[in-house]
This record gives sequence, C-alpha cells and structure tokens, in this order.
Amino acid sequence: MSHKLRAPFKALTSRCVPSYKTSCLSLSTPLSLSMHPPSPTNLSVNNLKHLRKQFSATSANMSESNNNFLLSEVFNVKGKVALITGGGSGIGLMATQALAVNGAKVYIVGRTKEKLDAVVKSHGQNIAGEIIPIVADVTQKSEIVRLVKEIESREKCLCILINNAGIAGNTQQTEAKTAEEMKKNLFDDESSTFEDWVSTYRTNVPQLFFMTTAFLPLLQKASEAHHGYSSTVINISSISGIVQSSQHHFGYNASKAAAIHLTKLLASEIAENGLKIRVNSIAPGVFPSEMTAGESGGDQKSHIEKDKYAKVPARRPGKDEDMAGAVLFTAANQYLNGQTIAVDGGYILHAGA
Ligand SMILES: NC(=O)c1ccc[n+]([C@@H]2O[C@H](COP(=O)([O-])OP(=O)(O)OC[C@H]3O[C@@H](n4cnc5c(N)ncnc54)[C@H](OP(=O)(O)O)[C@@H]3O)[C@@H](O)[C@H]2O)c1
Repeated sequence: MSHKLRAPFKALTSRCVPSYKTSCLSLSTPLSLSMHPPSPTNLSVNNLKHLRKQFSATSANMSESNNNFLLSEVFNVKGKVALITGGGSGIGLMATQALAVNGAKVYIVGRTKEKLDAVVKSHGQNIAGEIIPIVADVTQKSEIVRLVKEIESREKCLCILINNAGIAGNTQQTEAKTAEEMKKNLFDDESSTFEDWVSTYRTNVPQLFFMTTAFLPLLQKASEAHHGYSSTVINISSISGIVQSSQHHFGYNASKAAAIHLTKLLASEIAENGLKIRVNSIAPGVFPSEMTAGESGGDQKSHIEKDKYAKVPARRPGKDEDMAGAVLFTAANQYLNGQTIAVDGGYILHAGA
C-alpha cells in the first residue's frame, strides 16, 4: 500500500535546516514575455513601467536560477545537524570533516573517548561547523536509546545520520589446490568460527537497522522543518558487498552485501509509510583507515602505501577528498534515495561483480 508524502511541511525554527530557494518556479511567464515583447508605441506610461518591472524581474529570476547551480547551493550542508558513528577514524573521520568544515554540526560516536577527543583537537578548530564527541557502543540497543535521548536533549532534529561504524572480522586463506585443503583453510582454521561471523554481522548489519529506526522521529522532524528538504541516512557499506571475490573474509563480505540490501529495504519501507527520509549507501573501495592500515597517527589519520593498489584502475587508494565528494553529494542531493554509490577508483571493474 502506498501513501502520499506529507507536504507542505510545517516550518520549525530549527538550526538544522537552512532555507531553500524556489526561483525556478517563476521562470516560465517572464521568459515568454522576453521572447515576444509587445511594441511600446501603443502602451501607456503605466503599462511601460509595469513591463520594465517585469523585465527586470526576469533578469533577476534568471540570475537567481543560476544561483541554484553554485557549489555552495548544490552541496549546502551549512547549519545541518549530523551524527556519524565511527567518526573517530578512517572513513567516518573523512565524512566528519566533509560536513563540519562546510558548516554542519557533527556529533561523532565511537567506543574510544581518546580517539574522539583527538579528532576534536586536530580537526575541530577554526572551522565553519562543529565536531562534538559522544562515547557509545552502537551494537547495544540500550546505548542507542541513550544516544537518541542525548541528541534529543540538545537538538530539535537530526538532518544527517551516517551509519559508518564497522568491523572487519577474521581472515582466512581461500586459495587451495584440493577440497581437503580448502576445508582445512575455511572450516578447520580456529579463527573460522560462528562467533566471528555473528560479531561482524552484529556491527555491520543490525546496528544500521537499529540506529536508523531509533532516529526516525528526529530525522522526520528535520524534513518537516522545511518544505522541499529531506533528511538522510547514509550507510557506509563496501564494494566487498558487491565483488564476487571473498577477499579472504567471507563473513565481512556477506555482511556488507546485507548492508546494501538493508539500505534498499529501509529506503523502501520508510517511503511506503509516507516519511520523508532518504536512505542511501556509499560503497567505498580501499581507503586509509585503522581497518586497512592497522593504525592511525595523533591526528587520527591513517596511511596506506599506494603501490599495494597498483591493480585498481585508479592505481591508488582513495583520498580524503574522494570520500568528501561522495558524502556531500549523498547528503545534499534531495533526489537520491535507495541507492548504493560505489566510490572505488574502479576496484569493481578490476575485481568483477
Ligand atoms: N577503509 C576501507 O577501505 C573501507 C572500505 C569499504 C568499507 N569500509 C567501511 O567503512 C566503515 C569505516 O571503517 P574504516 O575503514 O574507516 O575503519 P576504522 O578506522 O576502523 O573505523 C571504524 C570506526 O568505527 C568505530 N566503531 C567500531 N565499532 C563500533 C561500535 N560498536 N560502536 C561505536 N563505534 C564503533 C571505531 O571506533 P572504536 O573502536 O573506538 O569504537 C572506528 O572509529 C566500516 O563500516 C567499513 O566496513 C571501509
């Protein structure tokens, strides 16, 4: 059963939604006027004044329309309230900087206070927005409830939720010459356990479900605060959920495929219920992070050698700005819903899907 989206939405005096221009609606009349201007000889002075006014309105509207194409409009996140899980390192930190540097107020969530504090110290000073740390484990329902209460007590609404926290789980050797050897690698190996699959899945899949559903009321409030705006959930999945190779971690790749499908399920059910919250996923290729580099520096930034990724068509791992572009596009584009965007330097082309 489908329901109509609720509009127009009641305006709230909230910090989290800036106003949007609707100048394109007023283009048609003045444009036709400018193409066929009536002869001024048979016009009264008043009519002429009126026409002049309309002509100047035309050029004003035309330039206003051009304004809609400015980067500062298209990718506007100024004043938005965002929450990013795992914002203390790697891709979550890149997303945090992309939003906060451009004027958003970003709550970063992780289990390690020191990491979050280091991010605030290194990257939260002298920027247009704000970075605010909150310590929480998002694989616990009680912690998610606490998180919602915390945001509710500080903000009227939540504009952007980025479910980024994730873990990799154990790896196994997949290459084998015989069935016996393959069984030894994948079944007998003592790091290959049900527990490893379940803990990887817990962080990478149901956590996205519970975070998204817990924040629905605050996200919907952001959409209702201004006509034409839709709040958004961005799940950080992975190309690991798309490629045909297990990349030596079956559990992780299966969990990321589930995260991609969960994105579609949530986007669909939320829209079916007439709620105005977009749900999309970014599927990164290889980016420097604590997961891929094994560590980070005092500024919580990680580094991986370029040479290791020579087979990727881009011949390098992803950069901060590659992820920033994807995050700003996914957060700001009001017409994007239910999609997974791979930002991978062509990794999928090389690995095959
Ligand atoms: N880097 C890549 O190449 C790549 C590629 C594709 C997809 N991804 C995905 O990108 C996301 C971010 O990973 P990353 O590569 O940036 O690795 P990362 O640096 O290890 O970041 C993961 C972050 O999540 C936090 N976290 C983990 N479990 C948590 C929990 N239960 N509650 C709250 N926070 C938690 C971690 O902080 P604490 O440990 O302090 O809690 C950490 O800051 C993951 O979903 C990952 O699967 C990464």
